[in-house]
Amino acid sequence: MSLCMQRKSVRRFLPAEVSDDTIEKLLMSAMQAPTAVNQQPWAFVVIKNKAILAQLSQVSKGAWPLKEAPLAILTLLKKDCKNPVMAPQDMSAATQNILLEATHQNLGGVWIGVHPRKERIENIQNMLELPENHEPFSLIALGYPGEDHRKISIRYDKSRIKVLD
Ligand SMILES: Cc1cc2nc3c(=O)[nH]c(=O)nc-3n(C[C@H](O)[C@H](O)[C@H](O)COP(=O)(O)O)c2cc1C
Repeated sequence: MSLCMQRKSVRRFLPAEVSDDTIEKLLMSAMQAPTAVNQQPWAFVVIKNKAILAQLSQVSKGAWPLKEAPLAILTLLKKDCKNPVMAPQDMSAATQNILLEATHQNLGGVWIGVHPRKERIENIQNMLELPENHEPFSLIALGYPGEDHRKISIRYDKSRIKVLD
């Protein structure tokens, strides 16, 4: 099964740490994502600090997996990029690449939505000292899976497809 077909959200984690080598692989994959005019409008914050993870888990109702995760990556959108209108799509591609690389590394992960919710963006900005013009885009909770993540339900639906030939 391809990585795309194996990936599913994992929200419960074992306490085991993720090595710095593995974290670098996640970030390398993030930065291989396609971007409009190759603008690469990103920066990343690697969060291992338990107190900060606990704080971030309060950012929204759906952010609770961060409380248990040994690691999170916060993606930041650089607002002074060349083509800001396209930048959220670039950031989404980078976020998905992290999730796919996590699957490849036998990690589990879940995308915690931040962009475009103003209160979440501001909460995170208030919690962390972020560089100017760097806006929180997504949070990815990561770690070795502490739940069964191998059973995949296939969502393929032919009725959603129209072929023009
Ligand atoms: C933009 C976006 C925001 C999401 N936000 C959350 C979230 O805040 N909390 C959460 O537990 N899952 C979140 N998810 C994960 C979805 O719930 C999940 O991808 C969806 O239910 C499909 O399940 P799967 O990832 O296992 O295929 C988010 C996914 C996306 C793409």
